[in-house]
Amino acid sequence: MAGQCLTGSCFLAGVIFIGGLSASLPVLNLHAVVGVIFIHELEREDFKDTFPFSMDDHEEPSFDPPITFHANLLDHPDLPRWLRYIQRTPFDTGYLYGSATSKDVGKQTIEVMAYNRYTFETVRQTMEIRISSSPEGEMPYQADFLVKNWDVEEMLPKDAQESFQEAVDSMWEQEGLTVINITSALDRGGRVPLPIENRKEGVYVKVGSKDPFTTCLTEAKSPDNLYRCRLEQQPIITCYDSFSPRFQVDWCNLTLIDLTTINATEMVPVYGDGVLEEGTEFNPPDDAPDRMFFSTRGT
Ligand SMILES: *[C@@H]1O[C@H](CO)[C@@H](O)[C@H](O)[C@H]1NC(C)=O
Ligand SMILES: *[C@@H]1O[C@H](CO)[C@@H](O)[C@H](O)[C@H]1NC(C)=O
Repeated sequence: MAGQCLTGSCFLAGVIFIGGLSASLPVLNLHAVVGVIFIHELEREDFKDTFPFSMDDHEEPSFDPPITFHANLLDHPDLPRWLRYIQRTPFDTGYLYGSATSKDVGKQTIEVMAYNRYTFETVRQTMEIRISSSPEGEMPYQADFLVKNWDVEEMLPKDAQESFQEAVDSMWEQEGLTVINITSALDRGGRVPLPIENRKEGVYVKVGSKDPFTTCLTEAKSPDNLYRCRLEQQPIITCYDSFSPRFQVDWCNLTLIDLTTINATEMVPVYGDGVLEEGTEFNPPDDAPDRMFFSTRGT
């Protein structure tokens, strides 16, 4: 069998050849909450021993096959809009991740195919994701950080997010932080870095809280600092940068979203005094009180 052959065309030929042998893993039940990052790890370990031809009779017992995944919404070619898939290499964990919106509330069934790229075997797994709205509603204060020296899949493991949150905690005193979204900078107009000097693509991490921003965060957006950003200089932050050196935050790309002010001006209708209360009649006034008019300058 063309075991060494790992190119796309050989791979396809293999799937067609042994397509009838595909096995299935039990259905997984998962839960996602609107406005909170959802992450599911596709562990190679979970799939490795489930391929129909067991690896036992292979000459090397500890042989670790390259495994890739394909994920889609059941009976659809692609994933739902809110969900993304990434795997850096066939020897790394794959991730399904994303942030569901209120339009996605309900149940979605995702189908994952795991491909053993050595034997061309496939294993199928379906997962039912129950998406519910958050009991707390949307976090009113949201900050979107660009971390320049990390790639998106490095930020998806739980311990990475925890240490990022610790850094946020020391600059933004608040009770409880929610990670809302994690996005590769490539999905937001960033460029693929040159494969030199270990450069990374960069990742955006959006966090939310019920508590307002501290000056540590808002001073990055002061007029002086915005001017420095226009000159391609980093802002001057007087607080200790608790992200550095592990996370290199680009303070010019920080976005602060205050939904309390957006909602106050856009969502609440303001009625003028000409609106009648229900069931009342309009009674025009008999006379209007005298008014004083000031002449404006220049007339
Ligand atoms: C999460 O980030 C992706 C990529 O930038 C974007 O398309 C999506 O709308 C974001 N979702 C939320 C809920 O912010
Ligand atoms: C960061 O923001 C600058 C503008 O301030 C923009 O030109 C640049 O593309 C952004 N970087 C990334 C990776 O999005």
